[in-house]
Amino acid sequence: MYNFQYYVPTRVVFGKAAEEETGKQVKAQNGTKVLIHYGGGSVVRSGLLDRIKKSLDEEQIAYVELGGVMPNPRLSLVYQGIDLAKKEGVDFILAVGGGSTIDSAKAIAYGVANEGDVWELFEHTKTANACLPIGVVLTIAAAGSETSSDSVITKEEGNAKRAYGSEYARPKFAIMNPELTMTLPDYQTACGCTDILMHTMERYFTNGGNMEITDSIAEGLMRTVIKNAKILHDHPQDYDARAEVMWSGSLSHNDLTGCGNDGGDFSSHMLEHEMGGMYDVAHGAGLAAIWGSWARYVYQDCLPRFQRFAVNVMGVLAEGSDEETALKGIEAMEDFYRSIDMPTSFGELGITPTEEELKELAHKCSIACGGSQGSAKVLYEEDMLAIYKMAAR
Ligand code: NZQ
Ligand code: ZN
Repeated sequence: MYNFQYYVPTRVVFGKAAEEETGKQVKAQNGTKVLIHYGGGSVVRSGLLDRIKKSLDEEQIAYVELGGVMPNPRLSLVYQGIDLAKKEGVDFILAVGGGSTIDSAKAIAYGVANEGDVWELFEHTKTANACLPIGVVLTIAAAGSETSSDSVITKEEGNAKRAYGSEYARPKFAIMNPELTMTLPDYQTACGCTDILMHTMERYFTNGGNMEITDSIAEGLMRTVIKNAKILHDHPQDYDARAEVMWSGSLSHNDLTGCGNDGGDFSSHMLEHEMGGMYDVAHGAGLAAIWGSWARYVYQDCLPRFQRFAVNVMGVLAEGSDEETALKGIEAMEDFYRSIDMPTSFGELGITPTEEELKELAHKCSIACGGSQGSAKVLYEEDMLAIYKMAAR
């Protein structure tokens, strides 16, 4: 077991009509001029944006707006947001949307509070000294950005998708009404469930410092998400299933399911980020498409964890050798992905990278990882290429 620090200062306001609290929560954080940041329009169409503005009006809090965040959020809009926030004297950023909007809000918040080009943070040539306070009204259970320290931004030039994390950026509050996720397309619901699972799986498949209580929380979380993702596939309006998934989304990525271990593996995420940068695929779908190939490439180096996962999470009977059981667990996970219409290969994801593009993906991934990545198995550029090739079916 490794030493760890666990500090998640985000206030969670969870349940029906929670968004009515928004104005009060901003006021409690001493926000006086808010930048409301949102995506491509779902919050306009659902009427949520109007309700948020009303809630701010009721507390006499001034605001400006910037919509247009796209999935795989772009650096150019972050720059626009920084300019707008500086010009308007904004002192609080309110993200109304999903992971992309929240990550864009975090990047803007960094850009306002730090000198120089914010992209330097994402290139890891500079570290942040501060960040404007951020609040979140969450509309999709997926990325976990509502309580995480991370932000992931895509620079259009070179299609580079890069992550930066610091404690400054953990949101001050996250308003989470599961009903708000009921307008999601089924595909996005499934992508979200996949991402939530992966945030715990990344921390679970390690070779270092595993802790019984952490494993039990992780396995319970994964079983819960799998069960409720299947319910939502058939009954997308099921409130309780929405709520189970939404809360799992936060717990999965706020570091709880990694306490006591070596920091996790995160290779699948690093491999996927390059796919998102180059092909603009949905993050969760990209993860489902790469995971099976990653798992088959690494499982022998992390056999006890894969065996345990098969039995405790996927319900495989431990009848044969550990290796047979582990492989059955990987197959069961891929069957689950298919059952919620998620892809398990590049072909099913709808991308057909050329040989040269596979090499480019692997090269960029190794750069983003600083040369190597992983705990289940440490991967170098040639391993990354081998996994991309396995997925290219
Ligand atoms: O833009 P709008 O119109 O709102 O539409 C969005 C978008 O098209 C739509 N949507 C969201 N809520 C909706 C809705 N449509 C109808 N009804 C609603 N209630 O869903 C689409 C996807 O939204 P997005 O914000 O992109 O989804 P997600 O939360 O999955 O975020 C993905 C991004 O988060 C990053 C990913 O890499 C990706 O860029 N991640 C961020 C992490 C973090 N900050 O900690 C960790 C993750 O591993 C991940 O990398
Ligand atoms: Zn993710």
